[in-house]
Parts: sequence; structure tokens; C-alpha cells
Amino acid sequence: MCGIVAYIGAKQARPLLIEGLKRLEYRGYDSAGIAVLNGAVSVVRTVGRVSVLEDRLAESGDLKGSVGIAHTRWATHGEPAERNAHPHVDDRHGIALIHNGIIENYAALRTWLEEQGHTFTSETDTEVLTMLISELYDGDLEKAVQGALREVTGAYALAAICEKEPDTLVVARKGSPLMVGVGADEYIVASDASAIVAHTSRAVTLDDYQVCKLTRDSFRTSTLDNVAVTPRIQELELELEQIELGDYPHYMIKEIFEQPNSLRNTMRGRIDLREGRVVLGGVGQYARELVKARRFILLGQGTALHAAMIGEYLLEDLAKVPAEVEYSSEFRYRNPIIEEGTVIIAVSQSGETADTLSALHEAKERGALALGVVNVVGSSIARDTDAGVYLRVGPEIGVASTKAFTGQLSVLTLLSLFIARRRFMSVEQSSEILRTMERIPEMVERVLAESDQIRAVTERYCDRENWLFLGRGYNYPTALEGALKLKEISYIHAEGMPAAEMKHGPIALINHGMPVVFIANKGAQYEKVMSNIEEVRSRGGRVIAVATEGDTDIKRYAEDVFYIPEIPEALSPLLAVVPLQLMAYHAAVIRGHDVDKPRNLAKSVTVE
Ligand code: G6P
Repeated sequence: MCGIVAYIGAKQARPLLIEGLKRLEYRGYDSAGIAVLNGAVSVVRTVGRVSVLEDRLAESGDLKGSVGIAHTRWATHGEPAERNAHPHVDDRHGIALIHNGIIENYAALRTWLEEQGHTFTSETDTEVLTMLISELYDGDLEKAVQGALREVTGAYALAAICEKEPDTLVVARKGSPLMVGVGADEYIVASDASAIVAHTSRAVTLDDYQVCKLTRDSFRTSTLDNVAVTPRIQELELELEQIELGDYPHYMIKEIFEQPNSLRNTMRGRIDLREGRVVLGGVGQYARELVKARRFILLGQGTALHAAMIGEYLLEDLAKVPAEVEYSSEFRYRNPIIEEGTVIIAVSQSGETADTLSALHEAKERGALALGVVNVVGSSIARDTDAGVYLRVGPEIGVASTKAFTGQLSVLTLLSLFIARRRFMSVEQSSEILRTMERIPEMVERVLAESDQIRAVTERYCDRENWLFLGRGYNYPTALEGALKLKEISYIHAEGMPAAEMKHGPIALINHGMPVVFIANKGAQYEKVMSNIEEVRSRGGRVIAVATEGDTDIKRYAEDVFYIPEIPEALSPLLAVVPLQLMAYHAAVIRGHDVDKPRNLAKSVTVE
């Protein structure tokens, strides 16, 4: 969502803050701003990307000072406009604030603050929080922040400075991530480790309702009631090169091509072929509960939801246990029934998606055992679940999720086998599936080698504004994911659906030349998919098929074919999604869009 970076130390803050903002820009990017202390508080804010802010700074001269805060925003309250961009500055003491999250009771607070004589210049909840801190300020910024946060409901990660306290930076968190990088006589605070790792590998992750006061050479963490908390400094696992582009033009294509390796990492040490067993340290202590579980509910949003949908098939098909899947945003508000033996699985790359986090809290409150299938280590969902399995795919920067999706599928397959093998699955059957899984990275490499051909085909169709993606069984969710990828970054309207559903309405859309992508690999429903292809062709649709290597017959039905290696159906989405990722990527590049920062999107959505 929005990105926060703040600095206090001996160096000039501005270049450091701008570099940090660039690293965080993938989280949200409709406006940006910076405030630096140098006697007074100097603020520069702009609509648009961090590069626009940089240009403005070059025009307005240097912002000198070694204490500062900076922000990149994804609008929630108020349109993307300079007056709504952060930092916000109060009207009395020279307090500047940046904030991620949402202050839910901002309207009531604003009315009260107006009665106290404060004048607002924006529509944001953040300005309300700034004025509240200002109202409570009596010469101690830490105390004023603690007092203000006792009054607000909602979520926040924030950083504040005040011109009356030139050697102080105060930060706090509840429900939105924030970590304090601990360098040699300097501190870099950020909402994401990627803005810290170039400076130090030591960091403290703040817990909810914690405040941290930093001076140039020391820091103290406390609760909102000012009770001191002993901070735990941890080593960041992130390497700088993992978040650099290297030779790739975009993070998305880098991450698509990383999949053979990211999948190897996901599986490493987790497969015991001899016993046909899966070793998952993170859920080991709950093995009995998982084996006895009566029902699984998988929750997620966006790409994570599509992985969860495939997880539903996997759990029922391999582990033979009832499973259902739901948008986490819907789950919480429909009064869900959680019976004894219900296990929920929260699927999330970032581990910060507010909808999924709230759903998880709801399920836990109702007594469910909660597992996480999460990528970001130490994220809110990872921390709030009872147990979980990390994806280990490394940082995903491209807004369109790719390697996290295949990581989620691998983990959900491993988890299903973990349960299946303990319930009834034979060593032979389990070992056979695991042996195939071990070959998947090499199979993905073969699909990636087709990237140029996929680009050439995409080029022929990418001026069409309406596409359909169709699949059946395990590859119905893959079709949804293919459509999501295309619309997210190329702004082409695309719909995914079960192939058989097409004839119940959407077939009316098919006209001459409409691209229809079929996932038509060899499987139980192959013949039926062929009939669906015929239905499209006879109405003038142009069929692009993802098919199994060796299937030459399909060329009679489809205009263009992308081949994937032969693989059992349960594992086929791991391969079938790759040409769809590549197609979406190439379409966006050909149409001239900013692939890594598509309009209106944010990598991690930390508001409900
Ligand atoms: C946002 C992103 C999507 C992502 C979804 C869930 O909408 O733009 O790409 O799939 O959030 O994110 P999560 O971090 O929970 O997987």
C-alpha cells in the first residue's frame, strides 16, 4: 500500500529517503512527499511518482538536514492531489507526520479538533491524526503521539518529527508493518525491509501498539501507556541483490523467470521421497489436528484467492477432506460457521492484506485453528496464525503476482500431501507425486524458453480489448488468474470462467476475432474442453490454447498453441499459468504500460 521511510543520524537525510522511497514505490505510487528538519520543518509533496518528487526537489534546491520522513501514497481518503499527499504538517508546532493505514474515527476527531480551532487543508485521516498529536503536544513528541494513538481506532504505521525537537523521530505501529533498521549511529525506519537492507541488516520489527522514540544515537520502545518494552534486534534475511533488477527490464519478468529457482526453494528440504512424506516444520506440531480436521476453509484475495481455489481442489482430491474457499473480504461479514475441527488457511504473499488479516482474526475468535501460507517472514498474517508454511520465493516486487502464485500452489500441494500421507495415501502414490514435483522447476524452464514465441502470438492479438480465459477442473482457477494478470497490467478487459459456463451467457460476447484462451491440457475433461473450443470457433472466436506437449491434434482446433510438458492434472496449474503470465507481461510491454506499477493498483492492500 503506502510506503514509509524515515531517517535520523549523521548523514544527509534527503538522498537516503528518496532512495528508500524508490525501493518502496511498488507498494503504492499516486503521490509522494518528504519532510526534513533543519531549524524549521521543510516539506515538498507532489502528485505522481517518486521521480516527479525528485525533479521538484532539484528545482526547489536542496532540502538539508539529517532527520527526515518520506512517504509514497496509494489514495484511500481524498483523491491523489498535493494537498492530500503526506507528510501533513500541523498548524501550531511544526509537527510533520506520515502514515499508512486508516484512522476509522477520523470524522468525529476532525469535528472535535475544528472546535479546538484547528484548520484543515486536506480530506485525509492522516491530517486529523497530525492535528490530534498537535493538540496534545506540550513539548514532548513521544508523549503526544502515545496520547493521540490512545484516542484513535483503526490501523497505522507512522513516523513524526517536530521542529521544536530537532534530534527526535517518533514512530509507531498497529496493524500496518513498520521496522526500525539499526545502523552505526543512525536509524532507518521503513514499512518494508527493502528500504533498509542497503544500510543495515539489523532491524527491530515493531509490534502492534508499540511506539519507538529515536534520537541520533539511541532508541527506546514503549507501549501507548509509556511502559518500556525491550526491543528484539533481528538479522534481516533479505539480500540487496534480491531486490535489484539486474539485467531484466522489469521486476515482473525477472520474477517470472525466477520461478524455477523459487520453486526449488519452496520445496527444498520438504520432500522425503523414500518415505513418501512431506516435512513441514512450521505445521509439524499441529499434525494431529490437521489429520483429524473435518473441514478446511481457504481465504485470500486476488492472486492468492486463485491459489486458494486450487488448494480447495488439492485438499479434496489428494487429502480427501472437505474444503471450501472464500474471498477473505466476504468471509468475515457473513457470520461464518466454524465447527469443531475447522482449520482455516490464510493465503497471502505480503502477509499484510487487511481483508485476509481481519478474516483470520474472525476465524480464530470463533475457535478455528489458523494456518498461514505466506511469503513475507514475520508479516502480520504470519504472526497472527497458529502455524504456517512460508513460500520462500524471495521478495516479490512486481505488483502483478507471479512467483508467489506458483509458490502458493507448491505449498498447498505439499500441505495436502502432508495430510494425505498421514490419512490413507500409500508411500508409492505419494512418492510418485513428489517425484513429479521435483521435476517441475525443470519443466517450468522449458515453458519459459517459449517466451519469444508467446510474445509473437500476443503481438497479434493485443490490440483486442476483450478476452476470455477458459479452463475446467484444476485449471478453472488458472483461467481466472490468466484473466487477472492480463487486466491488471495491460488494462485489457478479460474474464475468466469455467469453460462449460461460457454457453450459459458469456457466449453472447463472442464475435469475430475475439481472443479466447483455453487451458486445454490432457486430462479427464479434455474432450469436453474440445467441444467448448468448437463452440467458440464456430462463432468466429480466435482460440489460443495451452496444451500438452505432443498433442498435435489440437492444432486443428486452435489458431495458436503454447505447449506445457505432460503432468498429472493436480500439478498442471503450476505449468499452465506460466504462458499466461508471459502473455500478460508481453501484452503490457507492447501496449506501452508501466508493467511493475500498473495504474490504480498497490502491491499490498492494507485497508479493508
Ligand atoms: C493486491 C495485489 C494483488 C494480490 C492481492 C493479495 O490486490 O495487487 O496482486 O494478489 O493484493 O495480496 P497478498 O499479499 O495477500 O497475496
